[in-house]
Formats: sequence, C-alpha cells, structure tokens
Amino acid sequence: MLAEQLKKDTLRSHQQLEKMLVGRMKAIRSKEDYVNLLQLFYTYFGGLETQIDQYIGQNELHDYAERRKTQALAHDIETLGGKPMAKANDEDLPQIKNILQAYAAMYVIEGSTLGGKIISKMMAQQLGINNGEGLSFFNGYGDDTETKWESFKDTLNNVTKSSEEDKIVIDSANETFDKFKQWAEKHA
Ligand code: HEM
Repeated sequence: MLAEQLKKDTLRSHQQLEKMLVGRMKAIRSKEDYVNLLQLFYTYFGGLETQIDQYIGQNELHDYAERRKTQALAHDIETLGGKPMAKANDEDLPQIKNILQAYAAMYVIEGSTLGGKIISKMMAQQLGINNGEGLSFFNGYGDDTETKWESFKDTLNNVTKSSEEDKIVIDSANETFDKFKQWAEKHA
C-alpha cells in the first residue's frame, strides 16, 4: 500500500526536519517567537497549497477545502498581531507539475496534523496560552485528527496505478520535506 510505503521511505527526512523544528520550538519564549514559527509554516505550506490547488479540488477530494491550512495560519498570525509574509516561490518549493506530486505535498501537509497536536500543547504551555489563541493551525482537526488522517490515507492508496507512479509520489514527498528544512534554515 502506498501510504505504508510513504511512511517508511520518508522516515529519514521526517526525522531530520522534526529534530530541527523541535530544537527551535523549545527555544520559543514569546508570542513574537511563535509568530515567526507560524510565518515559516504559512510561507511554505501557503506556497504548496497554491500549487496543489491547480491539481486537486473538491472533485478529486470531497473535503479538500476543509483540509487547506493557509487561512488558519494567516488567522493565527493576525490574531497575535502579525502580518502574513510573502509565500515561498517555485525555486524554494518541490516540483508540483501533476496530480501525483500534488498528493505527495498533501501527504506531508496532512501528516503534520499528527505532530501538530504535540506542538500545540508545547506552545500553550511555553507561552501560557489557555484560550487556544493563535493555535488553530496546530490544533488542526482536534479530536477528528485520526479519522481525517485515515480517510486521507484511503484516498492516497487509490491514487496510483503502478510502482512507477508510487515512486513519483515517494520522491516528491521526500523533496517536500527536504525543501521545508532548507526553507527553515534560510529563515533561521
Ligand atoms: C516538529 C515537530 C514534529 C513532531 C513532534 C512530529 C511528530 C509526529 C508524530 C508523533 C507522528 C505520528 C506518528 C504515528 O502516529 O504514526 C507524525 C507523523 C507525521 N508527521 Fe510529524 N512531527 C513533527 C513535524 C512535522 C512536520 C513539520 C511535518 C510536515 C512538514 C510532519 C509530517 C508528518 C507526516 C507526513 C506524518 C505521517 C507519517 C505516516 O504515518 O505516514 N511532521 N509526526
């Protein structure tokens, strides 16, 4: 199954990214620091979603609109007094030129909701946020996170028709993780 293969074959790039981000998150002490973290996600995921929109919409994935993250991120930034920065351009993004690469980028974005639950608890604790302010992106689908993840994986498992197509998705998911790490390093 593609979803299983993706988990295995992107483990390394996920772990490298996670290690770097966790280090940064632990150092967050103020709402300004946290807004900088949100900007990182807004600019990169926002750039990805602009590209994904060209290949995936409601016809391909019935709850696509609900799964987009750009607005929640912009909302969190604005709630905390920031202004969303310019989104990442093509050269900083993975290549998204077909629906398979679009699904690969979505795999990375949707998977981030699983780590998001941990991150939102961390941020609430470190910043003393007790009303959920600025945490809508990291809170993601709340109690529905697991169900949403399972249904996304079901879709993914029906997207490809050959091992060649599987490879396109896996390579592209790794590129999506790696470019995010590079983007984060560029905006340290
Ligand atoms: C920085 C802190 C992060 C932590 C602590 C974290 C942690 C986790 C955890 C606990 C899971 C669930 C594993 C499972 O239940 O099987 C997970 C899965 C995942 N995370 Fe992260 N994550 C982080 C960042 C990210 C980011 C920034 C992205 C994307 C850009 C991401 C993408 C994914 C993906 C795609 C999966 C799904 C793996 C699979 O089952 O196929 N994670 N992460």
